[in-house]
Amino acid sequence: PSMTKYQASLATNYTDTSEVVDLDWENLGFGLVETDFMYVAKCGPDGNFSKGEVRPFGPIAVSPSAGVLNYGQGLFEGLKAYRKTDGSILLFRPEENATRMITGAERMCMPAPTVEQFVDAVKKTVLANKRWVPPTGKGSLYIRPLLMGSGAVLGLAPAPEYTFIIFVSPVGNYFKEGLSPINLIVEDKFHRASPGGTGGVKTIGNYASVLKAQKIAKGKGYSDVLYLDAVHDKYLEEVSSCNIFVVKDNVISTPAIKGTILPGITRKSIIEVAQSKGFKVEERLVSVDELLDADEVFCTGTAVVVSPVGSITYMGERVEYGNQGVGVVSQQLYKSLTSFQMGLVEDCMGWTVQ
Ligand code: COI
Repeated sequence: PSMTKYQASLATNYTDTSEVVDLDWENLGFGLVETDFMYVAKCGPDGNFSKGEVRPFGPIAVSPSAGVLNYGQGLFEGLKAYRKTDGSILLFRPEENATRMITGAERMCMPAPTVEQFVDAVKKTVLANKRWVPPTGKGSLYIRPLLMGSGAVLGLAPAPEYTFIIFVSPVGNYFKEGLSPINLIVEDKFHRASPGGTGGVKTIGNYASVLKAQKIAKGKGYSDVLYLDAVHDKYLEEVSSCNIFVVKDNVISTPAIKGTILPGITRKSIIEVAQSKGFKVEERLVSVDELLDADEVFCTGTAVVVSPVGSITYMGERVEYGNQGVGVVSQQLYKSLTSFQMGLVEDCMGWTVQ
């Protein structure tokens, strides 16, 4: 509670020009810490977004009849900014998020900001909140772009107006396990997505619909659930908030993108990092039997980065990996990826933006 009060006072006091906010950086989890500013742009029926503005972080007003509130016409993105040791700030592959938002918007019958508008808005929002970017090695600034049908509708139809918002929050580790391996249960009742649905886009509804299975799993002591495909109930899909990889005999496999799986930017980056290190990477159908027989399993996502999996439970059978330690492949890929993200190595991939 004291932190919230402190932040509230900061949020109304823009005269504070300290380089970095005085937060308990050692104990950042993945929860909202309100920062000073957010970005807002609107789009009317012409399909073009207005020149957005950076304004104090706070509630927004929308009609109770807004498309997003009634029919879930909304998308979100997630990316991170890291502070380099010289104090400057790096974004990781922001154009990838911009492109993914455009693809998702098309599926959800929404207009989207251009790649240039998106990246410019991200830069403006991060710069306005730069004192909230954690010191190097203490976490990152999570950036949450949102696109929503903010105009009023009653009959089922696309909203007549859209709002693009970006807010940010300093974050640390996603799972309460920190960097320790997580324990997953393979979901045998619910499915996350089906062919022809919206599983492959970052629509807000995909996340509300996985809360129930996650809640049940957490109640039994698991970190999260791993979904199987809705047709055969046999092939891996993804975890509620991240993609999945399995390692067997130094070959790294991950479910192929085929409309039901979120095309993660960390997923794509890890594939490229692994290939550059000489690993064979396969994007294909990966069966639950292969998962149980794997040498190592890990998850990837913007929020989770690379999270090692310590155990999988499927139909009452529990398989453990890596003697509860972090697997060597997961460890190596985590280190390579985060070295690029934090600017600790030369960006030979061209992934970071100052
Ligand atoms: C992310 O990794 O950025 C996500 O969008 C997952 C979210 C549920 C925290």
